[in-house]
Amino acid sequence: MKVCIIGTGYVGLVTGTCLADMGNDVTCVDINKKIIDNLKKGVIHIFEPGLSELVKRNAKEKRLSFTTDYNTAVKDSEIIFIAVGTPQKDDGSADLSYIFSAAKGIAEHMDSYKVIVVKSTVPVGTSEKVREVIKENLKRKIEFDVADNPETLREGEAIKDFTNPDRVILGTDSEKAKTIMHELYKGLERADKPIIFTDIHSAELIKYVSNAMLAIRISFMNQIAPLCEKVGADIKAVAKGVGLDSRIGPRFLQAGAGYGGSCFPKDIRALAYNLKQHGLGSEILDATDQVNEKTKKSIIHKVKKLVPDLKDKKIAIWGLAFKPKTDDMREAPSITLIKQLQSEGAKVRVFDPEAITTSKKYLENIEYAENPYHALEGCDAVVLITEWDEFRNLDKQKMKQLLNKPNFIDARNVYDPKEMKSLGFNYLGVGR
Ligand code: UDX
Repeated sequence: MKVCIIGTGYVGLVTGTCLADMGNDVTCVDINKKIIDNLKKGVIHIFEPGLSELVKRNAKEKRLSFTTDYNTAVKDSEIIFIAVGTPQKDDGSADLSYIFSAAKGIAEHMDSYKVIVVKSTVPVGTSEKVREVIKENLKRKIEFDVADNPETLREGEAIKDFTNPDRVILGTDSEKAKTIMHELYKGLERADKPIIFTDIHSAELIKYVSNAMLAIRISFMNQIAPLCEKVGADIKAVAKGVGLDSRIGPRFLQAGAGYGGSCFPKDIRALAYNLKQHGLGSEILDATDQVNEKTKKSIIHKVKKLVPDLKDKKIAIWGLAFKPKTDDMREAPSITLIKQLQSEGAKVRVFDPEAITTSKKYLENIEYAENPYHALEGCDAVVLITEWDEFRNLDKQKMKQLLNKPNFIDARNVYDPKEMKSLGFNYLGVGR
């Protein structure tokens, strides 16, 4: 089918590339000429495992193209996805200006029936507003439908999450749109991994509630972790025992430095705002956000337990990205910790396999190490704050020799406390 994607961020680019890989003819549109020119040269502006090869292969086979021009892209496509950003405004609400300008651009270039699909994460009722914007900007009366198909991609796993989703959520309000969208996605349908059709509002809400449910679990475990430290319990044992209840399940129960990323923090606040807009309570969401902020700020206290006076001390930081397998540092716990350390006069030396370049947008006056070991040289402590595989099986004797003091703060509970203590480290985990 002929598909147009407006917005080439990680959602738009992954969606477009994977739909092309399924055999569709896809044109990706972005107003950022530099990004489009790079994509045309096969240069990808985001780090996502496997994406670069997939883009190149599909572009070579002419199933995937890139342009800044709405005109031909919209005219030639039957399905048009809006996959632009919905950043958080100061008051916590989602900034929908990019969504509406994309809708306007589509309307101005439409000359036949289209299904316009909102892929971005949007507050309930946004798709209706997209319909209004299109109606207002059509040059003449043209039939169209709006649908909502929220993305459920995790950074670092985005291609797998697209090609093997737990479910595809399709909010439609016309049989015609439903048929067309089913045709597009039926290649992904599995008996146990269904396409679910709902009304448009429910589809918008499913995405927010799913993300909120995941973030709530994390904050709840981060609230229990300090209790474990007080009473001598182990949060990992608690998570394991709780997760074996089939109604709860084992995932997203790991306490640590808190959650970051471009989704959880923003989506929790946007959903809370949405509830308040309707005069409803958002206590659980507000508490989730507060606990997460508190968790991020708590790691420094562990550092100070081992290095009470941070002035002129050197601290090694393992990890900058908000999680492994991405270079994204939006709301990363590493930013909170490094700024706190610097404000107390400590010097910071960091290593991250992918996020060094990105970090320059967020941090200054930090020393970059070549590898995990180099980061440790002469440092008075090391904090593991992003659980990259590169940090999992290092030579612990060598680590000890390189460190000025054998102080290890494990903010993602990667290492075993008993083993680290037996090797002579002063080890502090989270909730252990
Ligand atoms: C999330 C949702 O998982 C995805 O479905 C949605 O489409 C977009 O938002 P993402 O933000 O890319 O994906 O990352 P995810 O893997 O969900 O992790 C989010 C944050 O939670 C990371 O900072 C991670 O470190 C943290 N996390 C995750 C925990 O602290 N504990 C856990 O047990 C799991």
